Amino acid sequence: MTETSTVRGTADIGVTGLAVMGANLARNFARHGYTVALHNRSRAKTDALVAEHGHEGSFVATETLEELVGSLASPRRVLIMVKAGAPVDAVIDQLVPLLDEGDIVIDAGNSHYEDTRRREAALAEKGLHFVGVGVSGGEEGALNGPAIMPGGPEESYAALGPLLEDIAASYDGEPCCAWIGTDGAGHYVKMVHNGIEYADMEVIGEAFDLLRRVAGIEPAEQAQVFDAWNQTELASYLIEITAEVLQQVDAATGAPLVDVIVDEAGQKGTGRWTAISGLDVGSPVAAIAESVFARSLSAQTEVRATAREVLAAGVESAPAVSPQDRDAFVEDVRQALFASKLVAYAQGLDMLSAAAIEYGWALDLGTIASLWRDGCIIRADLLDVIMKAFGGRDTSRHPEPGTRAEGQPLNLLFAPEFAQAMAEALPAWRRVVGAAVAAGVPVPVFSSALAYYDGLRADRLPAALIQGQRDFFGAHTYRRTDRDGSFHTLWSGDRTEVDGDGAPVVMPQPAEGDPTDETAR
Ligand code: 6PG
Repeated sequence: MTETSTVRGTADIGVTGLAVMGANLARNFARHGYTVALHNRSRAKTDALVAEHGHEGSFVATETLEELVGSLASPRRVLIMVKAGAPVDAVIDQLVPLLDEGDIVIDAGNSHYEDTRRREAALAEKGLHFVGVGVSGGEEGALNGPAIMPGGPEESYAALGPLLEDIAASYDGEPCCAWIGTDGAGHYVKMVHNGIEYADMEVIGEAFDLLRRVAGIEPAEQAQVFDAWNQTELASYLIEITAEVLQQVDAATGAPLVDVIVDEAGQKGTGRWTAISGLDVGSPVAAIAESVFARSLSAQTEVRATAREVLAAGVESAPAVSPQDRDAFVEDVRQALFASKLVAYAQGLDMLSAAAIEYGWALDLGTIASLWRDGCIIRADLLDVIMKAFGGRDTSRHPEPGTRAEGQPLNLLFAPEFAQAMAEALPAWRRVVGAAVAAGVPVPVFSSALAYYDGLRADRLPAALIQGQRDFFGAHTYRRTDRDGSFHTLWSGDRTEVDGDGAPVVMPQPAEGDPTDETAR
């Protein structure tokens, strides 16, 4: 039933900001039986929504935020879906004076988690709940079931969670929605989801580039390859839509659409935020960062145009794979893609652990992985396996805030099934990166992910030499493998070693007459 006149105090939730994401979330709530109060800065969008979709459920069209707030049952739940940044603050500033203690303000946009932390603290002082909610799944997900990652005060989840769980996607009967953690935790997890999304899209792009430039496989045929890959452990939404995009023919030219699209990738910022935060919390999210850089490089149109003229390729011309070796190469690329994708997940989850410590959040990686199994852009069969590797889904399990959960792998790759999968993929992965380098095809994420893997498992890293260099030019000191404490070599003096306090290091003296004592001779 549609009510176009204001009804005070009965609506279950209010939505302000009725561009497509807000409108679709509002419709999703209404389709689940909730009465939804609608508001938009310009009334026309509200009216259009009611006119086109009013039959889908119970809507209350309102003209002003006062009216919106007045139409809501207590505790009031107001969902804001406007452009991240200043517009969110502007709406909050208007809303706050209209609300009562215990009311809940929900920001469902892709806001930066630091903004969410700030807003949550400010509203908490006024007795209001502020909940930053990550929503993934694009327009279609918002309407039919997104993955939802709510943060904010845990007590607000009692009043808000059931509504969100109702409209979320579900996997095996479990909603792809659970309380993530306090203040900005929900938006942080959504941001990391997007970082992984960037890496996932980039590795698919690198596979496409390799299959074409090294093996000469054209887009239409690649669509079949990706379709086939979607029947393997790579099965995922992004692989599925890749096949769709690759088989699309441009009506105007008859060329594959992918060849007509300008090769400059856009970005709205969440991938960049992930890379920045990875650096801030000391988590080496190199594959994710490389996927952001790859988009940035693609967008350097002028620089690229000059580079094409002045920089040599230094390679024999591709394709380098003979027709009889093609199937083997395709399989190698598939395995390299899988291994690189796993590394992106490992890095994303690692930064979540680091962020939990930094921000005092109680993040449960098993439950977080469970939310990504459906509804969101990175949804993939693999996520069920990842969830199990981190102890499965248990929404009541919250590690001690600011710590890593007990009994879970320190890194996703250490889970036995993934360590095994990486071992199996390694030979192909190395061959593919080698072939790409030889052919001059850029594979920043394939190669960075492999470097991360090799870096993790190295016996010794050249970090020891870096420590020596740092000590040389900055007396930054180093630790030794054989003794506790910190040490410094007097590089510009007699090059003896002193301890962290500058006292000469007393070397253990060999016993008198010891035949191994070289100095006695
Ligand atoms: C999602 C998407 C969604 C959106 C982002 C990323 O999870 O539904 O991540 O949030 O596509 O805006 O977009 P960019 O690629 O433009 O950064």
